[in-house]
Amino acid sequence: MARCIAHRGGAGYAPENTLAAIERTLTSGSTTWIEVDLHRTRDGHLVVAHDMNVLRTTDHAARRPESAPAVIADLELAELRELDAGGWFDPAYAGERIPTLSEVLELDGIALMLELKDAERYPGIEKDLARQLRASQSEIRPAEIMVWSFDVAPLRRMHRHAPEYPLGMLARRIEAATFEPHLPILTFGGVWPELRAIDVQEARALGLPIAAATLNSVDRMTSAVDLGADIVITDYPDVFSSLTDKS
Ligand code: G3P
Ligand code: CA
Repeated sequence: MARCIAHRGGAGYAPENTLAAIERTLTSGSTTWIEVDLHRTRDGHLVVAHDMNVLRTTDHAARRPESAPAVIADLELAELRELDAGGWFDPAYAGERIPTLSEVLELDGIALMLELKDAERYPGIEKDLARQLRASQSEIRPAEIMVWSFDVAPLRRMHRHAPEYPLGMLARRIEAATFEPHLPILTFGGVWPELRAIDVQEARALGLPIAAATLNSVDRMTSAVDLGADIVITDYPDVFSSLTDKS
């Protein structure tokens, strides 16, 4: 059966990329695999957020003047942590903060798909990530961490700094030219509305397992599994696990 990864922590049930979402997914027992996106603050902290700025997923606009910096790379961690990253989703989550990678690494029983977002914006982020993963006091083994990107260059740099971490390549089309023989990309991930047989065939031709994102309906999940998807990435991991419980 395909592995399930909770997209942005399990963004269907709780504010994306927050500890509330991740902990809810882990507690539900639907999967231990959590996908989060990484950025870096001005003072060098790796933090979990999808967008390069805080406008969509925090109360920045309501709390600060329009001219105040909103790009994560321009903010210090302390400034980020003042923001409410949960109330926009549901008032019940008011008070959630943008998590640091350290906080996520400390969660028991977690396995992580880490996506390097806009890596070129953060020179040296791969080295920072490698150092932090290795220094982490958590019990997460390298096999329980995958580092992903839509670009091959950050994967190349990650592999140079920490070859023990498996890599995943995200793309909207599978292109053999993207894959470098010396780079041990272990999984291919595609972002489609729905997985197609041709995508599976092309991944198979490259000898790569295929991850399909972001599949949020029962129909799309079922069809992807029937086609041979190895990984289903979804905002609704509970839905996927209820499907697999029935099979
Ligand atoms: O899992 C792949 C997916 O996370 C890539 O899309 O925009 O949600 O980061 P996005
Ligand atoms: Ca992502």
